[in-house]
Amino acid sequence: MKIVGGPASQLLASRTARALGTEPVLCEFNRFPDGELYLRIADEIKNESVILIQSTPTDSDLVSLLQLIDACNEAKELNVVIPYMGYSRQDKRFKPREPISARAVARCINADRVFTVNIHEKSVLGYFPCPAKNLDAAKLLGEYIAGFGLENPILVAPDEGAERLVKKVSSGLGFDYDHLQKTRLSGDTVTIKTKNIDVTGRHVVLVDDMIATGGTMTESIKMLKDQGAVDVYLACVHPVLARNAVLRLFNAGVKDIIATDTLEKAESILSVAPLIADALKDLQ
Ligand code: R5P
Repeated sequence: MKIVGGPASQLLASRTARALGTEPVLCEFNRFPDGELYLRIADEIKNESVILIQSTPTDSDLVSLLQLIDACNEAKELNVVIPYMGYSRQDKRFKPREPISARAVARCINADRVFTVNIHEKSVLGYFPCPAKNLDAAKLLGEYIAGFGLENPILVAPDEGAERLVKKVSSGLGFDYDHLQKTRLSGDTVTIKTKNIDVTGRHVVLVDDMIATGGTMTESIKMLKDQGAVDVYLACVHPVLARNAVLRLFNAGVKDIIATDTLEKAESILSVAPLIADALKDLQ
C-alpha cells in the first residue's frame, strides 16, 4: 500500500502513514511560470494499491487532487481520502440556475473508493461515481474535550444542523448539550437566538462541523457570554477560518479553538489520522 499526500494534507498523510507503519511517498509540488500547477509522484506506483489523501479547501487544491488521481492511473487500486471537501455546502440548488457544486466536484473523482470526514451533507456521498464513505470525528472531539477536565461543561451547537454532531460528541461522556437557533443573513453575517439554556457560571463548548468566516461562532460566543457563561471554547472538525475569522473569534472572547487536521492550521491540535488509518486497515 502506498500513501500519497497532496499539498493540502502533507501532515495528515504523514501521520496516517505512520499510524499504518509506513511512510508517505514523496511528491514534488511546483508551478509553471504561467502559474499552472505541476506535480510529480517520486516513487513507482504502477500496480500498487494507492491511498491518496488531499483536502480541497481551495480551487488549486482541487486541481492538485485531480492531477494526483490522473498521475495514479496505473495503480492497481485507488482510494481517495478527501478529509475536507470544498464546495460540499452547495449540496443543492438554493436558487434556480445555480450549480450543485458538490455534485460537479464529486463527479470528477475517478477512484475505486472515496472517504470523507464529517462531510457537511451526507447526501453528497451519492454524487461520487464510486462507493463513498464518511468518517466521523465526533468521538475524537468528545474524548479531547473530556481531557480538558472542565467542571460540568455544556456542549452547544450554534444551529439545528449541528445538533446531531453535538449529540454524538457528548455521547457516552455524560455532557449536557443543546443547540441555538441561527438565521443566516449573508455569507458572513448571522443572527443567533437562544433557547432556554441556562449557561450562567458554566463552561461552554460550542461545537460545529466547520468554522468558515467565524460569523456563526462570533455571534454565539457574544450571546453566551452575555448570558453569563464563564468561558466559551470552540470545537470543530474543519478549521476553514477564512479571512479574519480568528481575530473576530478572539475579539468576541473565545477562550480557545480546538480543531482537527482535516485542514492544517495552527488550531488543528487534534489529528484524524487514527480515524483514517482504521478505515484503511479494513481494506488491507
Ligand atoms: C453551516 O451549516 C455550517 O455547519 C457552519 O455553521 C457554517 O459553515 C459556519 O460558517 P461561518 O463560520 O461562516 O459562520
